[in-house]
Amino acid sequence: MGGWNLRKKTVLLLTVLALDGIAAGVATSLIGRFAEGEVEANIAVTTPQLPEPGGKSESESEPEDSTSAAEMTANQADEQKTAALTFDDGPHPECTMQLLDGLRERGVKATFFLMGQSVEGNEEVVRTMQEDGHLIGNHCFQHIRMTKVSETEACEAVSRTSERIEEITGTRPRYLRPPYGEWNENLECLLDMTPVFWTLDSLDWKLQNADAIVRRVEKSVRDGDIILMHDIFPTSVEAALRLVDELGAQGYRFVTAEELLVD
Ligand code: NI
Repeated sequence: MGGWNLRKKTVLLLTVLALDGIAAGVATSLIGRFAEGEVEANIAVTTPQLPEPGGKSESESEPEDSTSAAEMTANQADEQKTAALTFDDGPHPECTMQLLDGLRERGVKATFFLMGQSVEGNEEVVRTMQEDGHLIGNHCFQHIRMTKVSETEACEAVSRTSERIEEITGTRPRYLRPPYGEWNENLECLLDMTPVFWTLDSLDWKLQNADAIVRRVEKSVRDGDIILMHDIFPTSVEAALRLVDELGAQGYRFVTAEELLVD
């Protein structure tokens, strides 16, 4: 009898240990997943979002040997993904116009965060942007750091820009991309504006090489990304249009930043 009891106790103890082990394993992987999501969400998105399970980077880190590269490509093309191309620091008389032509040919809508000082003299570019159905946002009058200037200066930089845009388009911008991504949430004058950051920095301003920009974006793009670019460099325009074509072939549909934020 004593022997049976001992064996029973041992089995129970082992069972408890095994369950403990499983629970600990699950807890660890959940914490790992959560921490990863929080880091990503903190980088840029206005509405914090956890990455979708089974995203591209996961499948890349655990490749299935049985699936051929061709099958993978076909699967990716079937899956509908969205991304938003966003352009700061414009409008530019040549670059932006060229970009607008290319986007129109491809039926793609993008988002432009305009600098008030560049709007002056480029009214025609802004009008075309509006007619083509792109989302127009505010990027301050000059490229200031909103966290470093006085409240009056920051508010004026935004309101002057919104006024210039509204004079041309008849619509007051609702979205603002603070220069350098430095948002001052304490400014009461900005309560009616929504800040829009980014989830993928193309580094186009630094690379100024279309091949390098395309490579960088294609390597890390994920469903739902808000991609930061600048429509003041010819290399950025070339890269953006190539990204529309190449990522489009991989199943990406390009939408305005508003569509991604609302979803
Ligand atoms: Ni900027």
